Amino acid sequence: MDARELIDKYHMNTYSRFPVTLIRGEGARVWDDEGNEYIDLVAGIAVNVLGHCHPAVVEAVKEQVERLIHCSNLYYNEPQAKAARILAEAAPKDLNKVFFCNSGTESVECAIKLARKFTRRTKFIAFEGGFHGRTMGALSATWKPEFREPFEPLVPEFEHVPYGNVSAVEKAIDDDTAAVIVEPVQGEAGVRIPPEGFLRELRELCDEHGVLLIVDEVQSGMGRTGKFFAFEHEGVLPDIVCLAKGLGGGVPVGTTIAREEVAEAFEPGDHGSTFGGNPLACAAVCAAVRTVLEENLPEAAERKGKLAMRILSEAEDVAEDVRGRGLMIGVEVGDDERAEDVAREMLDRGVLVNVTSGDVIRLVPPLVIGEDELEKALVELVDALRASG
Ligand SMILES: Cc1ncc(COP(=O)(O)O)c(C=O)c1O
Repeated sequence: MDARELIDKYHMNTYSRFPVTLIRGEGARVWDDEGNEYIDLVAGIAVNVLGHCHPAVVEAVKEQVERLIHCSNLYYNEPQAKAARILAEAAPKDLNKVFFCNSGTESVECAIKLARKFTRRTKFIAFEGGFHGRTMGALSATWKPEFREPFEPLVPEFEHVPYGNVSAVEKAIDDDTAAVIVEPVQGEAGVRIPPEGFLRELRELCDEHGVLLIVDEVQSGMGRTGKFFAFEHEGVLPDIVCLAKGLGGGVPVGTTIAREEVAEAFEPGDHGSTFGGNPLACAAVCAAVRTVLEENLPEAAERKGKLAMRILSEAEDVAEDVRGRGLMIGVEVGDDERAEDVAREMLDRGVLVNVTSGDVIRLVPPLVIGEDELEKALVELVDALRASG
């Protein structure tokens, strides 16, 4: 049996997959087991910010894998120390305490627990359209009824209000509210960009009520939107930040970063992870974060995002909406079936794209993608949209 048959037989039926088996990647290109080459505008869903197998990550992992793969948080390890420092230095001053985990949903779990412990309050305000993960705490913050309802009862006291609407938050917030959790740009909801000033107003409202602001940068972080963190566009300082996806350059790792005063609510035993902060993953974090900063990839994302929007403006008459911030772009097609058809058609055209929120073609390519590659892929996309319209 080939990989597809084996996965269909032995893996739980949790994913709808394209009929493609990827075996190799380099930069913004991947190859399948039949020798087909693709320009990758999915990047493992916003994970491969440095492209596939970036030499800095490969070297760091190779060196670490021969030295120490895993120990335990019973002991100190050097890559964790370096990764903690590099993140604290990359984050705005005051966001200087990290906790390492292994995924986005876990980074949100840590944020939820920390907010409850610090505030001694129980309620959370999250947003319609928001996606924060699939474990029970993060799922409680996630909005989509299809994701939530089969698993209820979830963690109580999560209220969802319309995204971008500060007065709705004002109505919901009270003395029992521990935190507001928000994506600076909603990813899974179809790349939804809130009105200018939304995060700033949320920050002010949280301050008035002694409520923490948790910013979920799992998808938008690591330079994707044109700043290392998307919240930096608004110059706000969150109390807690969730980061994962691109953090390890493809290696599974996540982190929760908090203001020191907030982080001090945790004592030994309050939270933990066997694998979190593992030397191998942290060696990848150091290499990935250093590369994003040294190669100024946020600026590259900004520039290439503008190029992408210029090309995609050609598709405005055959799409409902084209929107983006940096290299986080959504093309709303207006019809679920058509969006799926275009994504499949793009495979034949040698480009990977995926569909989120039913009818939005999401483009989250590696930040290192060549401008010629990006242009080639997007010209194909415009053409496929036109052909499908
Ligand atoms: C904003 C956001 N938060 C959390 C998650 C969950 O991350 P993971 O799938 O690594 O658990 C995602 C995943 O798409 C996300 O986009």
